[in-house]
Amino acid sequence: MNNKIIIINGPNLNLLGEREQSQYGSITFNELKVICLNKSKELGLEAKFYQSNIEGKIVNMIQDSIKTFDGIIINAAAFTHTSVAIRDALSIFKKPIIELHISNIYKREEFRQKSLISDIATGGIFGLGSDGYILAIISMQKLLKNED
Ligand code: DQA
Repeated sequence: MNNKIIIINGPNLNLLGEREQSQYGSITFNELKVICLNKSKELGLEAKFYQSNIEGKIVNMIQDSIKTFDGIIINAAAFTHTSVAIRDALSIFKKPIIELHISNIYKREEFRQKSLISDIATGGIFGLGSDGYILAIISMQKLLKNED
């Protein structure tokens, strides 16, 4: 059976392609979604691509993922820096978690340089643009393959 992964995106990532192109590039959210789903399929993963601007909905989705998914790739966007609730939900998920950021959060404003997720994630990718999503999917596939 194929491994199942979920790619969770936090607030404002639905506006990719429109917002701050100097930070996030010109790819649109829908283009990114198609690329991620295709790459996952190519690697034999069943993927769901999810986005919400609402913290509680992301917490619910992480809780639901415990039963349904084998791995989580998460770009929690601004909630990375603020959400104890998302961190707590992720720490209940005892399977691989990859933290992802399109921009290099450590090169930006001080408030972005703190992630509440990094120390509970399996690993992380930041500053490599939207390619980070592809790299995260490849890494997740390897992590899950090694578990089988
Ligand atoms: C982001 C970085 C966050 O600081 C920011 O709030 C985002 C996107 C990134 O992908 O680089 O919305 O997570």
